[in-house]
Amino acid sequence: MPAAPEHITQADWFDFVPALAERSIDLLYVDPPFNTGKSQSTATNTYADSWPTTDAWLAWFRRRLEPTLPKLRPTANLLIHTDWRTTHHVRLLLDQLLGEDHFVNHLIWSYGLGGSSPRRFARKHDDILFYCISPKDYYFEPPMVPATSNRMKGQLKKATDIIDIPSLNNMSKERVGYPTQKPLALLERLVGACAPIGGTVLDPCCGSGTTLVAAKNLGRIPVGCDQNENAIQIAISRLAAKS
Ligand SMILES: C[S@@+](CC[C@H](N)C(=O)[O-])C[C@H]1O[C@@H](n2cnc3c(N)ncnc32)[C@H](O)[C@@H]1O
Repeated sequence: MPAAPEHITQADWFDFVPALAERSIDLLYVDPPFNTGKSQSTATNTYADSWPTTDAWLAWFRRRLEPTLPKLRPTANLLIHTDWRTTHHVRLLLDQLLGEDHFVNHLIWSYGLGGSSPRRFARKHDDILFYCISPKDYYFEPPMVPATSNRMKGQLKKATDIIDIPSLNNMSKERVGYPTQKPLALLERLVGACAPIGGTVLDPCCGSGTTLVAAKNLGRIPVGCDQNENAIQIAISRLAAKS
């Protein structure tokens, strides 16, 4: 039984998973709270982002990821979006749950904006771990981006594992007032590459619904949840605006 089209609801990821059919998902993208130790807020919305230890965060994540794996098709992919706080732990967890040979890429989202520090190199990227269910048979369509070298000027080339897309600034028209909203261009790059047209894209921490909008824009079926009521309202209205 395939997952229902545009299945978006307010729920904890843990409680949402049993409703999904086995082997129904083509791409799992998760952008969980990063365990920054503080609430993430805008003027209108907030979500908690603090666990007592990294181990507690990892246990929270593992408890949800593990039951999600049987819901993925044999050709499916996983993209787990984290940062310096947890990416190394998540990579070891995925190696353990799936096998080291299921690792495909460690993508760097280089976003540019933000402050600097006199104590270290400025932290200006997030980490997106790309794993597959079947190393010999996973979906991938390399994204094409404008070439930058003089030799290839005006031509397209296959994108690398460094994704240079600016984060949304405060004046961006794309902003919907949800904290840590990701740019649509980033999610369109990822969804277009890692899920087939007509395939089902699951985002179980969907926030303002950026992944789901990207999926819909690109002819994929969006499925998602978030435990935050406002997030779901925003995600539903963003998707409705696409109908
Ligand atoms: C980093 S934000 C996602 C932002 C999203 N990618 C966007 O572009 O708007 C993480 C989200 O995870 C949600 N969340 C936290 N714990 C959750 C849980 N147990 N189940 C579902 N969602 C959860 C939060 O409410 C928050 O919206």
